[in-house]
Amino acid sequence: MTIPRILAFAGSARQDSFNKKLMRVAAAGARTAGAEVTELDLRDFPMPLFDQDLEAAEGFPESVLQFRAMMKAHQGLLLACPEYNSSITPMLKNAIDWASRPVEGEPALACYRDKVAVLMSASPGGLGGLRGLVHVRSILGNIGVLVLPDQKAIGSAHQAFDEQGHLKDADQQAAVQALGGRLTAVLTKLLA
Ligand code: FNR
Repeated sequence: MTIPRILAFAGSARQDSFNKKLMRVAAAGARTAGAEVTELDLRDFPMPLFDQDLEAAEGFPESVLQFRAMMKAHQGLLLACPEYNSSITPMLKNAIDWASRPVEGEPALACYRDKVAVLMSASPGGLGGLRGLVHVRSILGNIGVLVLPDQKAIGSAHQAFDEQGHLKDADQQAAVQALGGRLTAVLTKLLA
């Protein structure tokens, strides 16, 4: 049996990011279900704002090369997506854009094709970032990612986590862990 490899990250650089916490809960669920999970912090991959002239003149910055390699080395994506003005954060969109660029001798959209993703969000607001997920789902779907229908948006995120980073509400904690489990289960079947 092939053990599914999942790359988990949040679309936020913030040190105390609610979405990083949420990602860790789901990642734990995926590990329990048998996946190998790599947690990544986009802060460790500082990418300039995508600029086609910069790309033409200098190619990919080192951070982009490293991020692309991480994307290609995993079959699953576990993404916790903050919502900025009802949409995707610029940090996440920028990373997606850099990783979408073609490379000679490589299949188109090699970082995305045949990938399976699960989405979640957390926000201090009542909707929990749900509106942003609509856009992230659409973007990823259009570049070849199979985005699972299961998702979770956690509202009042500033009050939702305990000191250990668990969701205080046991049902929410279980539901977010189950997202990681679901992604693992689908990948396990696809890889069989
Ligand atoms: C926000 N925030 C926000 N929240 C929300 O629920 N809906 C929104 O449309 C927005 N818009 C928005 C725009 C900008 C520019 C910022 C900086 C913030 C608040 C956001 O959810 C909050 O800052 C979270 O803490 C971001 O997620 P992390 O960084 O905690 O993971």
